[in-house]
Amino acid sequence: MKRTHRCDELGEKHVGEEVILSGWIHRRRNLGSLAFIDLRDLYGKTQLLFDPTTFPSLQPTLSSLRLEWVISVSGIVKKRTEANPQLATGAIEIEVREVQVLSEAKTPPFTLFGEDAVHEDLRLQYRFLDIRRGEIAHNLVLRHQAMLSVRNTLSSMGFFEITTPILGKTTPEGARDYLVPSRIHPGSFYALPQSPQIFKQLLMLSGMDRYFQIATCFRDEDLRKDRQPEFTQIDIELSFSDQEAFFPMIESLMKTLFSEVKKTHLTLPFPRLSHEECLNLYGTDKPDTRFGMTFVDVTPIFASLNTPFLQEKFDQGALAKGFVVKKGAVKSRKEIESYLNFVQGLGLPTLTWIKRKEGSFASNAKKLFSEQAFMELATKLTLEEGDLALIGIEMKPSLHQALDHLRRKIGEEEKLIDPKTYAFLWVTDFPLFTQDPSTKHLASEHHPFTSPHLEDLHLLDSDPKSVRSLAYDLVLNGFEIGSGSQRIHDANMQKKIFSKLNLQQVEIEEKFGFFLRALQYGAPPHLGIALGLDRIMMILCGADNIREVIAFPKTQNASDLLLQSPSKADASHLRELGLFS
Ligand code: AMO
Repeated sequence: MKRTHRCDELGEKHVGEEVILSGWIHRRRNLGSLAFIDLRDLYGKTQLLFDPTTFPSLQPTLSSLRLEWVISVSGIVKKRTEANPQLATGAIEIEVREVQVLSEAKTPPFTLFGEDAVHEDLRLQYRFLDIRRGEIAHNLVLRHQAMLSVRNTLSSMGFFEITTPILGKTTPEGARDYLVPSRIHPGSFYALPQSPQIFKQLLMLSGMDRYFQIATCFRDEDLRKDRQPEFTQIDIELSFSDQEAFFPMIESLMKTLFSEVKKTHLTLPFPRLSHEECLNLYGTDKPDTRFGMTFVDVTPIFASLNTPFLQEKFDQGALAKGFVVKKGAVKSRKEIESYLNFVQGLGLPTLTWIKRKEGSFASNAKKLFSEQAFMELATKLTLEEGDLALIGIEMKPSLHQALDHLRRKIGEEEKLIDPKTYAFLWVTDFPLFTQDPSTKHLASEHHPFTSPHLEDLHLLDSDPKSVRSLAYDLVLNGFEIGSGSQRIHDANMQKKIFSKLNLQQVEIEEKFGFFLRALQYGAPPHLGIALGLDRIMMILCGADNIREVIAFPKTQNASDLLLQSPSKADASHLRELGLFS
C-alpha cells in the first residue's frame, strides 16, 4: 500500500475520498468495540477509526497494534461529529477498511511524548527516537531551509560553492588537529581541516574570485555548549574587495536568512565597534547587546580620593570601572552580597556598591566619599534616583571578565533580555598578536594569514603587541557567530608574520612552504569570513545548546553515544597503518 497523502494533509474537502496513509502509531484509545488510533508522520497526525463490527477482517491485526508500530491503512475520509481544533486534520477521521503492519516496535527506553524530561545521554543513545519526538526534527528542517537560503543568496551574489579536501594538512586555527594515519605512507598523517582556510585562499590565487562552501570542520578542543568537535561553517572568500563592500553582503545574507527561516525583519546596517571600544564598554569581544548596562571608567574619581591602598593599585595599572543597574536600589544586602561572591569566584576581590535612594547615597564605601564625590560619580555613571551602581577595581583582564559575567548574570536575572530580539554587532580591528605572559612568545589572535592594519605596519618590529589587524568578528546575542579578515597577499609580509610567530625557517618551509610559493605567482588582494552555521541555528531555533540543531552530535566529552564512537581498532588494522608492529 503506497501512501496517497501525508498525515497533515486531509481535511473536509477530502470527505468521501478513499486514501492510504502510513506512519507510526502515536496514541490509541478504545471505546466499546471501536478503536481510535492517531497515526503520526513527520508532518502531522490523523485520527483513524477502526470499527471491527462493520469490518470484521480488521479485528486480528487491531488487537495486536502497539505504540510506535509502523502501519499502512486504507480507508474513507469521514467528517468527524466533533472536530478537534488542536489538530490540523481535526475536522476528519479515516474509517479504516484495511490495515497492514509494516514494522513492529519494542517498548521505547523512554516515553517519547511524555511530560517528563529525558536525560540527554539517553536521548543521544537513542537519537533516532529522540528525533522522532519532533523538536529536533523541526530544528533539522529549519537547518535545511537555512542552508538552502544561504546557498541561494550567495549564489545570486556570484559566489561559487567549491568542495575542498577533508584529508589535508594541519591548519593553524588554534585547536588540536584530528590526525588520520596513512596506510600508503607509514608514519605519515593527514590532518582533518580545522577550517578550509588555506584552500579558500588558494582558490583566490587560482582566480576563482568568489568562493563559498558549507563546510564540515574538525577541532580537537575542549567542548562547551556552543562548541562541537565537528561543526559546520558557511565559509566565504572573495577577491578584489574590502570590508566596506563585504560587510553589507554578509548583512544582506543574514537579513534574507532571518526573513526566510524566522520571518524576522533585521535592520541594516549592523552596528560596529572596534575591539578596543568593545572591551571598554562590555569587557568582552562578544557582548550581548540586547540590553544596556555598559561599563563606565571612573578611575579618575577614585584616584582623586588619594587613598594609599587604592593609589598603589592604580599605579600598577588597575582601573575602576562599573555599571548601573536601573531601579536596582531596592536590592537587599543579601543580593548584593551574592554579586560579591560571584565576582570573587572570577578573580575580582571586591565590589563597591552605591545606591541612590530617597535623595541620598548609600554605599559600602560611604567613608571614602564626600557628598560631592558621590555626585560626581553619579553624573559620570548616570546613576539616577532608585538605581544601583556596581564598581570593581582591578587590572583590565580580570576586571573586564568579572564585570562581563556579572552584567550577563544580572541581565538574565532581571529579565532585561528580550528573547525575540536579534542584536548583531561587528567587532573590528582586533589585535594582530596575543602574547604568552610567561614565554613572551607571540601568537596570532585570529590566524597567521590575517593582514596587519595598514596604519600600524610601522609598529611591527618596534611594538608588535599594539599592532591592530584587519580581522573582524560577527557577534549575535553574545555569541561569536563568525570571524574573518583581510588576508596577507604578499609573500614577504606573510614570511615576516610567520617569523614573528617564532616559527623557524625549517618549520615555515615544512608547514607553509607550498603556500608561500603560491603567493609568488600573482595573488589578488582577498578577504573572507566563516560563519558558524550550528551557532546561528542554535540562536534561530531558540535552543540552549548546539547539540539541539545537529542530527547526531557528540557529547561534552566528544563521544557519539549512539555509535559508541570513538572505539578500539583491530590490531590488524593498526598494523596495516604502521601504527603497531
Ligand atoms: P574561526 O576559528 O573563528 O575562524 O571559526 C569561525 C566560526 O566558526 C564557529 N566555530 C565553531 N562552532 C562550533 N563548534 C566549534 N568548535 C567551533 N569553532 C568555531 C564560530 C566561529 O566564529 N578560517 C577562519 C575564518 C576566516 O578567517 O575566514 C576560522 O575558521 O561561529
